[in-house]
Amino acid sequence: MIKAIRVGVAVLATSAFLAVAVQPVQAAGRATTGASADRESRLGTRTQPLRWAAPHDLRIGTAVAGGGHHLEQEYPDPFTYDRPYRRVLGREFNSASPENQMKWEFIHPERNKYNFKPADAIVRFARQHGQVVRGHTLLWHSQNPAWLQEGEFTKGELRAILKEHIFTVVGRYRGQIHQWDVANEIFNENGEYRQENIFIRELGPGIVADAFRWAHRADPKAQLFLNDYGVDWPGVKVDAYEALAKQLLADRVPLHGFASQAHLSMRYGAPDQLAGVLQRFDDLGLYTAITELDVRMDLPEGGVPTAEQLQTQAAYYKTVLDACLAVEDCNSFTIWGFTDKYSWVPVFFPSEGAATVMWEDFSLKPAYFALRDTLAAAR
Ligand code: XIL
Repeated sequence: MIKAIRVGVAVLATSAFLAVAVQPVQAAGRATTGASADRESRLGTRTQPLRWAAPHDLRIGTAVAGGGHHLEQEYPDPFTYDRPYRRVLGREFNSASPENQMKWEFIHPERNKYNFKPADAIVRFARQHGQVVRGHTLLWHSQNPAWLQEGEFTKGELRAILKEHIFTVVGRYRGQIHQWDVANEIFNENGEYRQENIFIRELGPGIVADAFRWAHRADPKAQLFLNDYGVDWPGVKVDAYEALAKQLLADRVPLHGFASQAHLSMRYGAPDQLAGVLQRFDDLGLYTAITELDVRMDLPEGGVPTAEQLQTQAAYYKTVLDACLAVEDCNSFTIWGFTDKYSWVPVFFPSEGAATVMWEDFSLKPAYFALRDTLAAAR
């Protein structure tokens, strides 16, 4: 039995290698990976996946796309149906983040009904491929089911609903989750608590501490994180997180990490102060992480990025990775999808795109090589 499994893995690995190795040829007509990729493919160095290039104390992850719908947008389900996608997922990464499958509207679609199947499948895949899982997310203003958002609950009921949800979901995956994004996007850009968040609005910001306490009881081994976008440069939003983190730690709340999603756009300049931001949280004794990195750009007419845009994109990816590598306890680096084929970016940011490290056919962009070479040099 064991032998058969080993053989299966070897075959998969070989075909993944072949699939990747022939791609520069397919991509040659486009302004893609260029001369350096051709040279590397000749040298054979491109066969080393990201996960093996990385230092041992840094997890390299991706969001895992699966089926469903949100804002009238239907998603495909590559995790289940796209075999090359699964191959690359298993080969390149040693951490997996369900992109949607653990969000309330997916996992808790009715008040008394949970739907664990899609999340279970990812957790199982991760185990089979030597990957850890980042749980995402427990306390958020978005992608909540209508029964929750529109229900008329007393404060006591709402609190009980959140507590039960956390114990049920975190408890189900107890011992199998590396990090949970317990609280997601809880501050506005001005550093005030986000009143769109039903729990914060109805129950007050103290609910954040409770969510961490409940999650810790449900899975004492999981590292519990604050997670947000727009925290790549210093400013009032970062200040708010720093103040909250200090308060939670002073109150002995089980907070273990602070993460930057790092959804970047080339419109706003390189994230050249990110290391400094992460260091402030490292100094508090917290882990830090990059959880949702992508780098979108304005697409020229015809939709194909220029070679220059691709170089800039690669530099952004590298800057974020360098920031993580520069900070002692930055222990997880996740990109929000690895192929443009399933990226959320064109859906949410019309006219921007090409935000991931691989083209739709999984061939590699300069950003991929920038990550891999930076990891290898840090190892
Ligand atoms: C996005 C997903 O990628 C999309 O598929 C979904 O339609 C909307 O949410 N911040 C987060 C992620 O914390 O959960 C979001 O993911 C992107 C922004």
